[in-house]
Amino acid sequence: MKSEMHNNSASMESIIGLCKRRGFIFASSEIYGGYNGFFDYGPLGVELRNNIKQVWWRDMVQRRDDIVGLDSSIIMHPAIWQASGHVDGFSDPMVDCKESKLRYRADQLFVYPVVLDGEVEGSIASIEGSELSARIKQAKKLRDLLGKKQSALDESKLEGVGIEFTEITTEQRSKTLGPDATAWDTLTEPREFKLMFETKVGPLADQSATAYLRPETAQGIFANYKNIVDTGRVKIPFGIAQIGKAFRNEITPRNFIFRSREFEQMEIEYFIAPDADWKALHREWLDCCIDWLASIGIPKEEISEDVHPEDKLAFYSQATTDLMFNFPHGKQELWGIACRSDYDLGQHQKHSGKSMEFFDEAKKSKYIPHVIEPSLGVDRTLLAVLTAAYDEDEIPNDKGVVEKRTVLRFSPKIAPYKAAVFPLVKNKPELVAIAEKLYKQLQKRWNVFYDASGAIGRRYRRQDEIGTPYGITVDFDTLEKDGTVTLRDRDSTEQRRLSPDEVFAFLEKQIDG
Ligand code: GAP
Repeated sequence: MKSEMHNNSASMESIIGLCKRRGFIFASSEIYGGYNGFFDYGPLGVELRNNIKQVWWRDMVQRRDDIVGLDSSIIMHPAIWQASGHVDGFSDPMVDCKESKLRYRADQLFVYPVVLDGEVEGSIASIEGSELSARIKQAKKLRDLLGKKQSALDESKLEGVGIEFTEITTEQRSKTLGPDATAWDTLTEPREFKLMFETKVGPLADQSATAYLRPETAQGIFANYKNIVDTGRVKIPFGIAQIGKAFRNEITPRNFIFRSREFEQMEIEYFIAPDADWKALHREWLDCCIDWLASIGIPKEEISEDVHPEDKLAFYSQATTDLMFNFPHGKQELWGIACRSDYDLGQHQKHSGKSMEFFDEAKKSKYIPHVIEPSLGVDRTLLAVLTAAYDEDEIPNDKGVVEKRTVLRFSPKIAPYKAAVFPLVKNKPELVAIAEKLYKQLQKRWNVFYDASGAIGRRYRRQDEIGTPYGITVDFDTLEKDGTVTLRDRDSTEQRRLSPDEVFAFLEKQIDG
């Protein structure tokens, strides 16, 4: 049962509020005022996060015959980042505001002309995804600054997406009002800002000791490709999967955990023959990824595909399609699925001097495999899961009075707690003993919760808010009649009676299915 309002209408504020209130996610270093771009996962957040990773690993590695796993080090030989092109090329265009001292990513700033009495008099630069009403306010601010309060502002010119800041001329920039400025011409020209975090390895402090925190897990896969081919009895096509932390000194970390400076990725490099039908395989991967998202509760209707135009692709890339999700702050990239040709292995062969060729038994020939790369962020998946699951509806309380409730409609596969066990009352020792026994039995297999205090309706509601899919109540019928317990469904709130064995079988199907 989905409430009518549940159409991905969760606001970022309500999600952040719930995450803090119920211990899913905290700002990092909060007692020191927080640390921009870093987050900590609390007791419920870590369970949800681990479940997402475990289900991904199970479905992408353990339940497939053509993919093997890897866990490479975070800090690797700096030559890897030279070969991959990250040392020279992994940067974003950055713009500084000389007045507010704030920094923006130039490709996320969009410029709109301010047309007064039919003439372009200047422009405003606004952050991607801003509201039209905010742009009108900003344009009026510029109008006042220009001393033209009485002029008619053409609001229609402030609609749409605007022009990327990187594409405007120096002259246009000189009469542009920045997003947080009170005067025009405070934004600098875009310049490249390196995204890799540097560190020093070993006792020397000179340039030769410089190393990097990996900005993606993918290069660890390429760097181990030869090890796996030499030891793993793999046959083309095959994939190597890895889950792990990545670090990027993002210019503008924002939108909660959507873009942070420390995050985690789940990446696959899927190696194929150079003459394989890469277009068909790319499509297969896109469908596989969409199906997987649906299996953990991210509906297909909330996913769209953003095909990168050919003129925006890197020279080595054959195709890239991003799976976009309707996040509370707008439609944004969740999962990137790229066809990267033989570029990465070719670069590592060139820089390391080691052959990356694969001997194909079936074809009796050697080649450097091409690669399809599905790359997904754990934290972004978690935000998508929270967005899709968040709902507010109305249900009757213990006295039959209809009350509002907040509910997280998590799939049982990834829910932090799979079920909660309740003795109907806590002052009846025989009843409590049965509930505790059932709880201990379930706990051997899954993460379950036990709660004996408060009205039963309140206990259900507390679990609804943290997304526990099932409530199991031991009541007087359990004791006096047939030993069955009540199983309550979080979404429909329907209840039915099951024996403890049936509860096990039911949960197994829903969770491990
Ligand atoms: N190896 C390819 C690669 O790293 P990417 O598009 O830069 O490609 C892949 O990143 C995925 O990692 C993104 O689709 C997103 O889910 C996640 N991601 C990237 N940067 C992130 C950030 N700053 N914070 C959270 N997740 C991020």
